[in-house]
Amino acid sequence: MNKFKRFYIRTFGCQMNEHDSERVRDMFVQAGCTLTEKTENADVIIFNTCSVRKHAEDRVYGKVGTLAELKAKKPGLIIGIIGCMAEAQRHEIFARLPHVDFLCGPADLDRIPGIISKIRNGAGRIAYLEGYKSKRIPAFPEERNAGHAGFVKIMEGCDNFCSYCIVPYVRGRERSRLSKDILDEIKKLIESGVRKITLLGQNVNSYGKGLKEKIDFVELLTKIDKLTSLHPRGATPGVPPLGWRGDIKINFLTSHPKDASVELFKAMRDLRSVSKILHLPLQSGSDKILKRMNRKYTVAKYKKLIKSFRDIITDGNVSSDIIVGFPGEKEIDFKDTLNVVRELRFDAAYVFKYSPRSITKAAKFKDDVSLEEKEKRHALLLKLQRDISSSKKCQ
Ligand code: SAH
Ligand code: SF4
Ligand code: F3S
Repeated sequence: MNKFKRFYIRTFGCQMNEHDSERVRDMFVQAGCTLTEKTENADVIIFNTCSVRKHAEDRVYGKVGTLAELKAKKPGLIIGIIGCMAEAQRHEIFARLPHVDFLCGPADLDRIPGIISKIRNGAGRIAYLEGYKSKRIPAFPEERNAGHAGFVKIMEGCDNFCSYCIVPYVRGRERSRLSKDILDEIKKLIESGVRKITLLGQNVNSYGKGLKEKIDFVELLTKIDKLTSLHPRGATPGVPPLGWRGDIKINFLTSHPKDASVELFKAMRDLRSVSKILHLPLQSGSDKILKRMNRKYTVAKYKKLIKSFRDIITDGNVSSDIIVGFPGEKEIDFKDTLNVVRELRFDAAYVFKYSPRSITKAAKFKDDVSLEEKEKRHALLLKLQRDISSSKKCQ
């Protein structure tokens, strides 16, 4: 990274992307570079991007587009687009944004310093993209600059191929990290003062799949809980040490209804450091639409899961994601979704308007719900959920 001093990084997308950006930032800081909040002060500008909906991509095209002027004034400036959109828009970005110097997909983020050096040595434009075949997990330097809360990636990628979703194509195949590496990372975070840890994965419930080590997500949570109860150092195993405040909380994101289980809910009840917050995306309240989405569960199964979660954990918190306006979603299907939301009374729900993603299977379906109708359904569902959320807060 010769002669490069100040860098700017901006993140779009989910917590996985936030976490990736943190690791990239820490890698640069350890190499002696300084973070700047202003693009005009930077020698390197990085956008960590998301492709889950078209809107997310449009914002990046807009923001990076405005940097053409800065680049013209400062020819040594290096601009990179990293993350999911680098993978998804690999051909379009270089054509539409001639001032972008490099692309780097999520699996290769530890290679950015090398990419920058090569560009500085005259290599021209560079793209490191692994696409949906990706099995790599970037090897970032261990040192972290975490504050009170920290993310820990336990697995990455997705093999589910929900018909609307671009994530499997940009994050690659599911792969899990060894439990020893995860536990070491958590131990270091706790020792550095982190008290809230969020375990990240596109599909945390399938943690362990493909590992030589025989372990599943519930076993991983159990090991993590044991570790947190040994904090601080020097404690007798299993005995809460002097100074123990029981204040370490473990959250996790995201679960898939086809893999979530009663065993998981029991572990959430019994493991004291594991928080009782469950994010379980429903996506639709219509079996016909769930089938077209390739979600592999029915509304009845989803309802049963929520019921058992609430039976097992009486003071839990459940949130969900829902897509409105998926191809073929008739008024009656949308009403079914409204009814399920009314019945299940989530604590929170994120509602999205369906956005066709070209590589996916659903892109071949006719996008037959008009934008006006999508907006209407979005507003109706959002209002219903807001009313539910606020009435629950007042209870
Ligand atoms: N791995 C997670 C997160 C996926 S992306 C999971 O499976 O839940 C987060 C949310 O974005 C999804 O739950 C879905 O509701 C929404 N989403 C994904 N693709 C979309 C698309 N093409 N249009 C609209 N919303 C989408
Ligand atoms: Fe996308 Fe489905 Fe995988 Fe979630 S489970 S990342 S929605 S393909
Ligand atoms: Fe977006 Fe990639 Fe996350 S597409 S939602 S940043 S995994």
